[in-house]
Parts: sequence; structure tokens; C-alpha cells
Amino acid sequence: MRPLGKSTYEFAFNENNQEFVIAGKLRPRSDAEIEPIVAGMTAALENVRGTFYLNVKRLARLNNIAFRAIVYLMSEVCERRKDLRIEIVTSSVMGWSTRKFLPLAKQHPNIAVTEYDKDFYPGQSFLEDGGFIPILRNQTRLTWRHERNLLARHGLKPDMEMADICCGIGDFAVLVKKEFAPSRIMALDHSRSSLEYARKVAADFGVTGIEYVYGDASEMVIEDNSFDFVTCRHSLQIFDRPELILKELRRICRPGGRIYITNEKNSHCLGEPRGESIQWTYTEVAKLFADFKMDVEFGPKSRRYLDDAGFEDIKVDSFMVTNLDGDPREFADMIQAWENVYAGQMAKDRGDTPEFIERFRQGFQDHIYAALHPKGYAGWPIWAASARKPA
Ligand SMILES: C[S@@+](CC[C@H](N)C(=O)[O-])C[C@H]1O[C@@H](n2cnc3c(N)ncnc32)[C@H](O)[C@@H]1O
Repeated sequence: MRPLGKSTYEFAFNENNQEFVIAGKLRPRSDAEIEPIVAGMTAALENVRGTFYLNVKRLARLNNIAFRAIVYLMSEVCERRKDLRIEIVTSSVMGWSTRKFLPLAKQHPNIAVTEYDKDFYPGQSFLEDGGFIPILRNQTRLTWRHERNLLARHGLKPDMEMADICCGIGDFAVLVKKEFAPSRIMALDHSRSSLEYARKVAADFGVTGIEYVYGDASEMVIEDNSFDFVTCRHSLQIFDRPELILKELRRICRPGGRIYITNEKNSHCLGEPRGESIQWTYTEVAKLFADFKMDVEFGPKSRRYLDDAGFEDIKVDSFMVTNLDGDPREFADMIQAWENVYAGQMAKDRGDTPEFIERFRQGFQDHIYAALHPKGYAGWPIWAASARKPA
């Protein structure tokens, strides 16, 4: 970031994808101050054929002097070069930017404004519209019994500054705050309904001091090297390009700090009695998520991904959440929440037949049967992995 008056910004042109990126806070006090960007953009525009991308995804502030200069330049180029298309890429995280640039697209037919995080991946709506809340609530309650004992081995200590990325309904942050007393805890998610719920849960439990932030894990508006411990639970498995998220987790982690991830391997869910039906259904769960570009088989791949992302001192644990850990009813409630969403909205949206859905549902019901059976056993395997960012 280069400081300039009241601005802290950076800009760069990537020739390969014809993309001009402006990030930070752009608040020049005069036209002269904005000149370096205007000159950079002018040169970039002259070199481009086809589509020119203006990426303002991480532009947090833009005052009128800067906005006018950018608009003037783009309008002038659009008049002169009818062959050129300009796509302005905004983000919902910077809610103002789409609104601010949209009128430009109305004035010039060759300018378009795209809010890039509107549709990340095909399954996004299931995860973000609140339907997942009962699932997440049940899951964390069950995994915490294991994770509270594992987290210290993975490097979490009191007084650390930590971030929980893709925090969902924020219950993990609440539990960590109570148990490990971090000096700072920030919880980020891209679902407004989950964050709203998270704030309510924290208030209900009288927990204060958790910073809940709306953001995009693949483009976080967070300084480099900000946290000692960065967690991302059950979430790498929902992105079609988890390596991008890992890169961001690594960026915001301090050198010598650690990141901690948990993921599943759904096809390894198991139960007895009625093992065959259970196994069939969970193999189908993995296929269903794959059809929405999510990899709920990610767990055992954690080591490879962490290694490829340049981490060191990789630790991997796996544990089985079972009906015997506590009240089997809690386990059964989690399965019921899975069935409701997976065999409900998701299967429906994929266009599954009633026959398929009936058999699919039966496997969940059999898992519940196994969980509640006086001699039954039901399990859900999780992989918890952590690694250090090189100093
Ligand atoms: C399977 S949930 C896991 C939530 C939580 N970590 C837990 O274990 O309960 C995945 C979460 O990722 C969030 N998410 C999806 N895309 C995101 C993005 N681009 N940036 C931040 N969060 C995102 C969803 O809103 C959802 O809360």
C-alpha cells in the first residue's frame, strides 16, 4: 500500500487477464494526487483488446475526486473505442461500490458492472440463506467435545489474536473465547443471516468482544500478518478452489503462527445396524455435493493442500463423532438436519426423482435408527489439521 495524503492504496495492471486492480482507500485531495492511477489506467487501456477489467473488489474508499477522474477516463475511452468492453468488478463486501458504478453501465452500453461474489458456486444459496443454521448448530455442539482437547496440540494458547474464517453462526468463536481467552477474536462470514444469528447467540450468552465481520474468504479486507491463529472449519470443502482460500488464510496469519482447518469425508459416515443403507446414502451425499462443486471428501486431502500452500510442521488428526459421545439424541438431531437440507432443497434442485429421494432419505433414517438403538453405533468422521506459516 502506498500512502498519499488521506489515501492508502495500491494499483496494478495484470496484462495476462487484462485486469487493472485498485485496492485500499483512495481519497486524493486534488486531481494531481490521482494522476499516477489515471496514467497507469490510460496506459493499460491502450494495451487492451476485447475486455478491460477494472477490479475494485478490495477498494474500501473512493472519494468524489477519484471517482470523477475514473469516470471521465472511462467515458472518454468508451466514446473513442467502440470495440472495447469495460467490466467493472465490484464486491458485495464493499456494498457501496456496485451502487456507485452501476449508473455508468446505464450511460455506456460497453460498460458492465459485475458483483463478483453474487454467485460463487452453485451450492452457495444453501449455505448462506439460513437453511444451514440448524445443521451448523448441531455439528459444532458435537465436534467441540473433541476439538476442545485438540486445539492446544494444534497451537491455540490464551492471549493469542485469532480469526475464525467462514465462521457460520459463530458458535465456535463463542466456545473458543470461553475456553481459551484469546486477546482478540474476529469471526468472518459471507452470510448475513448467519452473522445476524451469531451476534444474537453471543448476546444471549452475554459474550462480548467477538468482532463479527461480513467478508469474502477469498478476498479478505484484512491486513497481511494480522493473526496468530487462523481457523477455517468445514469450509475448505465447500469451495471449488480451496487453494485460493488457503492462500488468504496464510496471508492474514503471522509468520510463525498457525492455521487450523477441519473437514469431512462424508462417504465414511457409518452406522450399525443397517450399515449398508447408511453407506449408500452417504456415498450419494458426496456425489450430491460434488454436483454443486463442493468436495465433502476433503478431510484426508488436508495434508496435501497444506503442503502445497507452503506451510510447515503439518499436524493431522482424525476423530469420529459418535452417538456414544453424549446424548445420542443430539447425534440423531444432526442427522435429521442433514436429511432436511440434503434430501430436501438440494436433491430437489438437482432434479432427483421421488424414488431416489425416498431411498436417500431412508439412509438418514437408518443412521438415526443406529444412533438411537440401545446396541447401535453411529459415526461421523472429521479431519482436523493445522500447520505453521514459515517465519
Ligand atoms: C459449512 S459452513 C461452516 C461454518 C462454520 N465454520 C462451522 O463449522 O459451523 C460454511 C460457511 O462458509 C460461509 N461461506 C461461504 N462462502 C464464503 C466466502 N466466500 N467467504 C466467507 N464465508 C463464506 C458460509 O456462509 C457458511 O457459513
